[in-house]
Amino acid sequence: MADIDLSALTEEVVSRFDSTPDARLRRVMQALVRHLHAFARDVELTEAEWFKAIEFLTATGQTCTPTRQEFILLSDVLGLSMLTVGLNGSKPAGCTEPTVFGPFYVADAPAYGDGEDVANGAPGTPCTVRGTVRSRDGAPIANARIEVWQADDEGQYDVQKQGLEHAQARGVLHSRHDGGFHFRTIVAEPYPIPTDGPVGTLLGHTRRSPWRPAHLHFRISAPGYQTLVTHVFRAGDEHLGTDPVFGVRESLIAEWPRQADGSHRLDFDFVLNPDA
Ligand code: BEZ
Ligand code: FE
Repeated sequence: MADIDLSALTEEVVSRFDSTPDARLRRVMQALVRHLHAFARDVELTEAEWFKAIEFLTATGQTCTPTRQEFILLSDVLGLSMLTVGLNGSKPAGCTEPTVFGPFYVADAPAYGDGEDVANGAPGTPCTVRGTVRSRDGAPIANARIEVWQADDEGQYDVQKQGLEHAQARGVLHSRHDGGFHFRTIVAEPYPIPTDGPVGTLLGHTRRSPWRPAHLHFRISAPGYQTLVTHVFRAGDEHLGTDPVFGVRESLIAEWPRQADGSHRLDFDFVLNPDA
């Protein structure tokens, strides 16, 4: 077998994928090889650094469980999740902007009726959320499926809590005939993304903040419309400019005014993009 000159190695590896029958897989793998090799050449990667990187990726995989997705977290802090959202989720003007999904969504959250309390015992300051779901032309969307989830005032999602047997601060509602909805919950507070795994160690070594600005997650779906995955953030939050997962969009920042009784209120209207 002939020696492969270092300068020719990259193209030799690329050519080994030439017979991949799936054209998309071929394109992705060949570009991945070119970019990875260019990266290693660019930083003049040492063997010790390469070994450290393998250890880091191994630890990332070993940290994953059914309720802990360290690889998604890695993608999030590298900005890859938000880049993918931006590349695929661009919507016409007037539609609500999407943002990162995050690792704490649960598909089968409990159902609630209009006006009910989704907090279900989660600690926090009470908050009432009201809004509408509309199409781009302003028409109300009745019976849209509205999934919401959030952390409590200790910065924890229910799925992160040991021994909790029921869902808290998450639920599924449906919009009324007029497209409106409302529910009670607790006010969103800033919280750190998990720092007890390899991604947290990386943030520490690079002096990056793990604090996400306060937000409430929404996933809104309705037949004939593109599903919207987004958050609503709280105006004035000190972490809006340093979100570790790059999810903040100006159009998703809202006031959550404090009411006379000490509770908060959020009003936010959502606009879905009709299917092509
Ligand atoms: C979240 O908002 O739930 C989240 C998003 C990305 C990484 C960690 C948490
Ligand atoms: Fe979150």
